[in-house]
Amino acid sequence: MTLGLAVEAAGISKSYGGSAVLSGISLKIDAGELFAIMGPSGSGKSTLLRILNLLEQPDQGEVTYGGPEPVLQDGQRLRRRMTMLLQRSVMFRDTVFGNVAYGLRLRAMQEREIRDRVLNALGDVGLQGFERRKALTLSGGEAQRVAFARAIAIEPEVLFLDEFTANLDPPNIKMLESALAAYRQKTGCTVVMVSHNPFQAQRLAKRCLFLYQGEVLGSGPVDEVSRLDDERTAAFFRGDLI
Ligand SMILES: Nc1ncnc2c1ncn2[C@@H]1O[C@H](COP(=O)(O)OP(=O)(O)OP(=O)(O)O)[C@@H](O)[C@H]1O
Ligand SMILES: [Mg+2]
Repeated sequence: MTLGLAVEAAGISKSYGGSAVLSGISLKIDAGELFAIMGPSGSGKSTLLRILNLLEQPDQGEVTYGGPEPVLQDGQRLRRRMTMLLQRSVMFRDTVFGNVAYGLRLRAMQEREIRDRVLNALGDVGLQGFERRKALTLSGGEAQRVAFARAIAIEPEVLFLDEFTANLDPPNIKMLESALAAYRQKTGCTVVMVSHNPFQAQRLAKRCLFLYQGEVLGSGPVDEVSRLDDERTAAFFRGDLI
């Protein structure tokens, strides 16, 4: 399967209440790439992700999607081909099965196909046998794994991850990182990952963009950005507070 779409942003600017949060950001993410957006708290990472995911409009600039086919511009249909996973995902007051099936039911899929996809996705995150559990009784790590299963069950072509493993313990982080690797291998999905963890970005991404106060301090291969001659990026990659 090759599902990935390329994502391109040109000259994205965004202000809230007169203060600039993003200033002229451009980036190009290849189909099937895992790309990281990094930077300290408040630098505009989540805002940029919401704009790339077409959940929010920039004040200036444009986001375009493309793939093997010509560039796609139809927002409504396009949005069905991508999904976003947040740091703490909302669980519906339903069973684990119902939570993972949610996006599939929205897409009016056949019940049999839904069942196969839900059980497969739960297996991929090590939660086989959890389908009847009430989602609200899950531990934080289990809930995040269910949220990941819900995201991949729809087989997105672009997966947006906003600090998707923050607050989890190492075994859960490892489980989610391997489920992500397996999903990418199976589908060729494009992944855009926001992380303020430089070690995770180095583990998973080849290329990144480093934001600082809404501007790009550097972009390119992660190891090149980590070695930039700039105290702010250097401190970030050492794991220091900036
Ligand atoms: N809807 C909004 N209304 C007003 N201000 C906003 C809005 N969304 C974001 N901001 C502001 O924009 C700035 C950047 O926020 P953003 O959430 O993009 O940062 P971030 O890099 O994701 O930070 P963190 O690492 O803490 O998640 C912050 O100062 C935030 O308060
Ligand atoms: Mg954020």
